[in-house]
Amino acid sequence: MILTEKRNSPPRAGVIGWPVAHSRSPLIHGHWLKVHNLAGSYERIPVPPEEIDAFLRAFPDSGLSGANVTVPHKEAAYAAADDIDDVGRAIGAVNTLWMEHGKLQATNTDGIGFLANLDDCAKGWDKNPGIALVLGAGGAARAVVWGLMQRGFAVRIANRTRERAQALADRFGGDTAAHDLTEAARLLSDCWLVVNTTSLGMTGKDELPLDLDRLRPDAVVTDIVYVPLETALLAEARARGNRTVDGLGMLLHQAVPGFERWFGVRPTVTPALRSLILADLGVLG
Ligand code: ATR
Repeated sequence: MILTEKRNSPPRAGVIGWPVAHSRSPLIHGHWLKVHNLAGSYERIPVPPEEIDAFLRAFPDSGLSGANVTVPHKEAAYAAADDIDDVGRAIGAVNTLWMEHGKLQATNTDGIGFLANLDDCAKGWDKNPGIALVLGAGGAARAVVWGLMQRGFAVRIANRTRERAQALADRFGGDTAAHDLTEAARLLSDCWLVVNTTSLGMTGKDELPLDLDRLRPDAVVTDIVYVPLETALLAEARARGNRTVDGLGMLLHQAVPGFERWFGVRPTVTPALRSLILADLGVLG
């Protein structure tokens, strides 16, 4: 189902950011356009901060069917959208835009991408949802906590800045609780799932300070960092015999709903796509 309003020419979409050169989205969507033999394009759209409001106001006349939005324009997109769906509102940020009935619509696909990656790589991970431990309380954590609550998990949020963890717990309510990052190791004995949403463990950053001694043998451990593909957290968990899921799948899966809306075909995340992105990142799969 193609929702673009300009059906007389092939659909165009892109990623709006500043800078935007580093974005892998053109590679992902370009791969799917090719695989499905579709007429359409996906571009990098660099928009400086001082121009973003005017750019978004003019979006309906731009000829674009939709777009992804990346840093630093997520707040501007949230403010400019005519309609934000329930998911975008619950997470409080949007990363995907499309035109519908002349109006700019927005959603957030990070939470769905997070869940789809686990569904894909850790079958049965949510069969008996218990307690999940989320490390970090930034924008990515918001999407992850939303996703985990959709699947019925109780969520413990541990963050360096405890107030941010508390604000996140308060945002979602239900069975959520906030902790200092230093409490994370103690919490592990009750957790079925551990998710790193901080930037720690990324190439060039410090390692995540977390002692895994109390990690349950049946816990699944996942990271949203994907450079390196296997972070020290994942390597240590794997060495202990735990199931681990790397963060690249979340990046790939979060792109699926946007592509489907703009180009009318639901694409799949395949080993070929993973290899393509890994090669571009210079990371060994
Ligand atoms: P994003 O939107 O990508 O999640 P963010 O909002 O900057 O980015 O959040 C980054 C997360 O990594 C936060 O939880 C941050 O902790 P604070 O809320 O205390 O800033 C966490 N983080 C970043 N550097 C860290 C470090 N050196 N030690 C511990 N946590 C860190």
